[in-house]
Parts: sequence; C-alpha cells; structure tokens
Amino acid sequence: MAYSVKSDKKLLLRALQGEILPQPPIWLMRQAGRYLPEYMKTRAQANGFLDLCYAPDLAVEVTLQPIRRYGFDASILFSDILVVPHALGQKVWFEEGVGPKLEPLKSADDIDRLALEHFHDHLAPVYETVGRLREELPAETALIGFAGAPWTVASYMLEGGSSKDFAAAKTWAYAKPELFARVIDLLVEATASYLIRQAEAGAEVLQIFDSWAGVWPEEDLRRWCLEPCKKIIAKVNAAHPDIPIILFPRGVGLAYRNFAVESGAKGLGLDTTVPLKWARDELQSKVTVQGNLDPIMLVAGGDVLDRGVAQILENLSNGPFVFNLGHGIVPQTPPKHVERLMRLVRG
Ligand code: CP3
Repeated sequence: MAYSVKSDKKLLLRALQGEILPQPPIWLMRQAGRYLPEYMKTRAQANGFLDLCYAPDLAVEVTLQPIRRYGFDASILFSDILVVPHALGQKVWFEEGVGPKLEPLKSADDIDRLALEHFHDHLAPVYETVGRLREELPAETALIGFAGAPWTVASYMLEGGSSKDFAAAKTWAYAKPELFARVIDLLVEATASYLIRQAEAGAEVLQIFDSWAGVWPEEDLRRWCLEPCKKIIAKVNAAHPDIPIILFPRGVGLAYRNFAVESGAKGLGLDTTVPLKWARDELQSKVTVQGNLDPIMLVAGGDVLDRGVAQILENLSNGPFVFNLGHGIVPQTPPKHVERLMRLVRG
C-alpha cells in the first residue's frame, strides 16, 4: 500500500497529518508578489492585478516563480480573496498604489443583488489555473488553494476597501446583526463551494485567511469568525474528508486555543505576536501549527533574522509544524534574505 509509506508523501501533507519531521516544510504567505522582479515583469503584461488573477497563463507563471527561485515545499495558488465578492456580482477593482476598492454594500437591496448564479463561471479561470499548476509543479511541491474567511471578505465588502478600524463593517454587525448575518451566511456558502471546486481542480491543501479576525470582542469573534470558519471546514470536509485545511485567524491572542480545539482545521496559522512556548504547550498537541516569523525580520535580515528563525525552530520543531511568516511578505523584502531564510530552515 503506497499510502502507508509515509515518506512518499509531500512534506506539507505529512506535517498536516500530525507527523513530526526532522526538518519542517516551509512556504511563505504572499511568496509570489512585488518583492520579486520577475513578478513585476509578468504583472506588466496583464491589464491590472485582477486580470492577472483571471489569466491562467500568467497566474500559473507567477505562482511558479517563487518555487523556481527558492524550492519552497508548497506553492500557493496566485489569486486574491476579493475574487469571491467579484464573482458574487459586486464591483471590485485595484487602484495602482492604493489597493483594493469595492462599491460598498449599503442596504438590504445591495445584499439581495449578490448572487451565486454565475459564481463558478466567473471563477472558472481560477480552477483552470489550479489544474494546470497541479500538472506543472515539481513532484515534491504541494499545491495550496485558498479563500478569505467570511468576516475578512465581508469587511472589504462593507467598507469598500481596506480600513483602519472597520467602523462601518462592525457597526453593521452591532446595529443590524440579522442583515450582517445574511452577508456572512452567503459567504459561508460561496466560500465552501469555492474551496470544494479548488480541491476538485487539484488543490491538495486549503488555507482560509481570516486576516482581520483580531478586532472583535470574545462573543463576536466566536459568532463572526470561529463559527463561520467551522461551518466552511465542515462543508469542505464532508465533500473531501482527506483534504487538510489551515486556518489563519490573525491576531486572536488567547482565543487561538478555541480555534485549535473547535474549528476542525488540521493546521493553525499563528501571527507574529503568538508566544512560542505558549503555542508549543497550548496548541501543538491539538493541531499542526504554522508560522510565525515577523515579515519585517525578513526585511531586516542579518542577526535579527538568524535569531528569529532559531527561536521558532527551537520551540516549535519538536511538534507538528510548518515554517511560515506571521503575515505576508512585504514588497520591500530583499530576495537574498529569503535565500538566507531557506538555508537557516533547511540547515
Ligand atoms: O503568493 C501568495 O500568497 C498568493 C496570492 C495572494 C495574494 N493575495 C496576491 C496579492 C494571497 C493568498 C492573497 C490574500 C489576500 N488578499 C489577503 C489575505 C492575506 C493577508 O495578506 O492578510 C487579503 C487581506 C487580500 C486583499 C488584498 N489584496 C489587499 C489588501 C491588497 C493590497 C495590498 C497589497 O499588498 O498590495 C491586495 C493586492 C495583492 N494581492 C497583491 C498580491 C501579489 C499585490 C498586487 C499588485 O501586484 O499590485
């Protein structure tokens, strides 16, 4: 039985099954992107960022670029969390030098206009990208599909873009919870079926990004982040019991423990602020942990980087663990520092 020969399997899959490996698998959030000159070149061929996400030739190319350069253990589909509201019919665009913009939802009517009808047609190029990647990736590289969590995606849908305090989105949740729940419920359904399609197209692992989970009081965190993510994970695993899911509820502090115990995720993405010994003692017996180097240490490089990496390895590599950053790579990261990181982790 080939399946029982553990060493046949890709390192990321082994780590997410709870195996403790002599060397942890490594990949980095936002590993494809503006810090790479080859990305900037390919991006210039597309008609803006969203077009890049919907052009399989170009999306495959930018997904593979960091694999060719560094040989990460996993590759993450090149796309964006905001293709989901776009596929539901909301206006989404990226402004050069500013970031994402959306025509914000203002009323119940705006929610009614969102529809699942053309959802998968709209996302067909993404599924094609996943399928092509699965064919083109090296045999040892795992393919990760992803989506944003309902709250993180809803925050952009209600704010109309990035936000400092999420006042508009949180006011909806506090003042009109039934209406806010309709947005979240629609996103649970859309996101689960989006992830299922990615799995069917060839994704081997799925990551859910709840990048803005860390802004809620306890009860609301449970209602708007933990519960919706748990529902998505249950739906995806009902369709595909074997596909491991990594949940990244950034910034939730002590509540990481609830996400480890209750979400159903096999992997938990730790942000940079999570104390390593606490993660080792409180989380690692329950899930595989992933993280959590400060992305700015990767910008600084030198001794700071060496020490940061050593501390993470010392504390987390004796349990099930995937090396990553605590948030995405930033554009000013020197590519040489990523090479150094690879040497530090791989020895
Ligand atoms: O390499 C990878 O990790 C895969 C691709 C990926 C992108 N975005 C590409 C991207 C992934 C997994 C994402 C997720 C994403 N997108 C998140 C969750 C993770 C996180 O960072 O918290 C969020 C919140 C978004 C929304 C988003 N997309 C913002 C706020 C921005 C603007 C800020 C920025 O970094 O430019 C984007 C744009 C974006 N997404 C870029 C890339 C490579 C830069 C676009 C460009 O080329 O100008």
